Amino acid sequence: MIEVTGLHKQYGTRTVLDVPHLSVERGACVALIGANGSGKTTLLRILAGQLKPTSGTFSTPQPVLYLPQRCYAFRGTVLQNVLIGTKNKREDALSLLERMELAPLLQKEARSLSGGELQRLAFCRLMLRDCTLLLLDEPTSACDSHAAELLLQELQRYRAAQGCTVLLSTHSRAVAAQVADRCLLLANGRASALRSEAGTQCEFSFD
Ligand SMILES: Nc1ncnc2c1ncn2[C@@H]1O[C@H](COP(=O)(O)OP(=O)(O)OP(=O)(O)O)[C@@H](O)[C@H]1O
Ligand SMILES: [Mg+2]
Repeated sequence: MIEVTGLHKQYGTRTVLDVPHLSVERGACVALIGANGSGKTTLLRILAGQLKPTSGTFSTPQPVLYLPQRCYAFRGTVLQNVLIGTKNKREDALSLLERMELAPLLQKEARSLSGGELQRLAFCRLMLRDCTLLLLDEPTSACDSHAAELLLQELQRYRAAQGCTVLLSTHSRAVAAQVADRCLLLANGRASALRSEAGTQCEFSFD
């Protein structure tokens, strides 16, 4: 379960994130939506432990896996990249890369991949690990529609196996509608929309 209270991030005098309260139940998948600069990455990075809030408290289940908005590859092949930090996962990696249609690129230098290939590779690195909380920052932003479909199918497979909580940001209503149980809106860093008691109907449900 994610619990956030009074979370605030400021750069200089500018507030870029203000989340009075957020609670995400265990096993839920929540999509974070909002315009460019609305604070989605800031919130995800704070929850991932990569960024300190200016004030406020939060608790997250551990371990956490985080897919950054800007994906990266380590030096080495696609297969080596996926296997980094794992043990006895070669067979799992091969079938995962097959499902994600990256198998023809197994021996390719990972740093030479296209944007969409790299995003799928970075996602595959997470899919070989266990977690209780999965944080994905625009996981399909570089993918074509077919690649996005593969990635979302894999995400659902992973969720079913792990029972983890998922928080993902996206600009795609279709992605949110396909995988999220509910959708939270950020606007100009302010998450007043998250407060149902505020009376604004900004918490969308896709049920
Ligand atoms: N290190 C920083 N210093 C100053 N301002 C920052 C810094 N990092 C982020 N910001 C600002 O914080 C705001 C929120 O940024 P954030 O990256 O969280 O937005 P986002 O919702 O993820 O946007 P996008 O959809 O473009 O990814 C932006 O206006 C950004 O310019
Ligand atoms: Mg972002």
